[in-house]
Amino acid sequence: MIPTVKELLHSDKEGQPVTVKGWVRTKRQTKSAIFLEINDGSCMANIQCVFDQDKLADPAFAPEFERTTTGASVAVEGVLVASPGSGQKLEVKASGLRVIGEAPVDSYPLQKKAHSLEFLREIAHLRPRTNTFGAVARVRNRMAFAVHQFFQERGFDYVHTPLITASDAEGAGAMFQVTTLDLARIASEGKVDYDADFFGKPAFLTVSGQLNVETYCQALNRVYTFGPTFRAENSNTTRHLSEFWMIEPEVAFAELEDDIALARDFILHLVKTALADCAEDLAFFDARVQPGLIDDLTKVANGSFSRMTYTEAVAELEKHKGVFEFDPYWGCDLQSEHEKFLTEKVVGGPLVVTDYPKDIKAFYMKQNDDGKTVAAMDVLVPRFGEIIGGSEREWRLDLLQKRIAELGLKEENYRWYLDLRRFGSTPHAGFGLGFERLLLYVTGMTNIRDVIPFPRAPRQADF
Ligand code: 4AD
Ligand code: MG
Repeated sequence: MIPTVKELLHSDKEGQPVTVKGWVRTKRQTKSAIFLEINDGSCMANIQCVFDQDKLADPAFAPEFERTTTGASVAVEGVLVASPGSGQKLEVKASGLRVIGEAPVDSYPLQKKAHSLEFLREIAHLRPRTNTFGAVARVRNRMAFAVHQFFQERGFDYVHTPLITASDAEGAGAMFQVTTLDLARIASEGKVDYDADFFGKPAFLTVSGQLNVETYCQALNRVYTFGPTFRAENSNTTRHLSEFWMIEPEVAFAELEDDIALARDFILHLVKTALADCAEDLAFFDARVQPGLIDDLTKVANGSFSRMTYTEAVAELEKHKGVFEFDPYWGCDLQSEHEKFLTEKVVGGPLVVTDYPKDIKAFYMKQNDDGKTVAAMDVLVPRFGEIIGGSEREWRLDLLQKRIAELGLKEENYRWYLDLRRFGSTPHAGFGLGFERLLLYVTGMTNIRDVIPFPRAPRQADF
């Protein structure tokens, strides 16, 4: 492998011969020189390659130079030298140029001008070649690694939970069905024989790995899962995807306060890592996408999270009736406009809301003694609201069975989950961090479809 642009720009190879391979961002000519800006995605910066203008008289060079257009892949030979220009420390004093793959000007969609994010969504296979999507991809990669680092350093075991499941983990019914049955035949015969289906019963793509990860929590103590999850809710918003990645830790012998502390430490670790290790990309987002981003994240990294119960949050919102599209009342599900108001206007930073009404939360949450609320916590942040949802789990068999029945769920589908309460049950707690929500948070991007390589959303499954 030849060195990447990032390696070259940070190397001590000054004075040595180098080969640069990458994609041409721009080419420009002055009276005395020809400049090529080459990017290979290893970092935001391009490497500048400078040829003498009289190279154009070279019969081997001229045709290659002609074919060197924005987007073409090229190999440049030269010597790494200190740059006299202001933009960079090092550049390549170039002597050889070879086009590897052409990118014809009249058909390559990414020309030098700025393109709208909407347009780039339509060419999701080419958008990683732009500054914005290159930066998103690098930050996404670093954050995924940071997730594992955080948990591994704290003694958590990574558990692979299944993607195909027969139980509705959130009890919300927004699941994609997995079947090998012939839909056309069912339509003509008018009946479904699940016994003939692949799994012999209805099966779905999972909405969460939580129920499965709880089984390993009740054996290995500290565990987490990190994988794709699927939701068939028809939410066409800038914060919902039909396929998204979720990180779900689960801790035995832990209560809500432990859960909140873990969630806070986790977010702080991720924010600090982004600031330290993705500085060049964050500087780009700060300058071009979300002014003030770095200051905001730095404040978060050095500050504390505010706290409120749901009841206090609703009382706060009720003081501002009329500013919302949906007026809040005790018992309502907080809308993103409410969440944003609380974090942006009321506390000015991350906010942990606890003790939600049981009727708007999932069946597995531990019921509080008031009979009305559950030991739940959501972490809300400015700009889009909920980034984490979690709770202490109902670990008492009788109360959990009662709740499953009350909600009209089928106990037989949760038989194994209830066994965890039958045998050696323990208090335990966990949460889910939406990985793409985290990326919105640290990059300042505003549409969740722009922080996942290939977004899946209602009526959108291209590429
Ligand atoms: O609040 P949710 O639904 O919680 C759970 O799934 C629990 N099983 C988590 C747990 O306790 N182990 O989802 C958790 C997080 C949300 O806070 C949000 O960040 C993200 O997942 N999320 C979505 N992200 C993108 N698109 C969607 N449609 C999302 N739905 C939830
Ligand atoms: Mg939630």
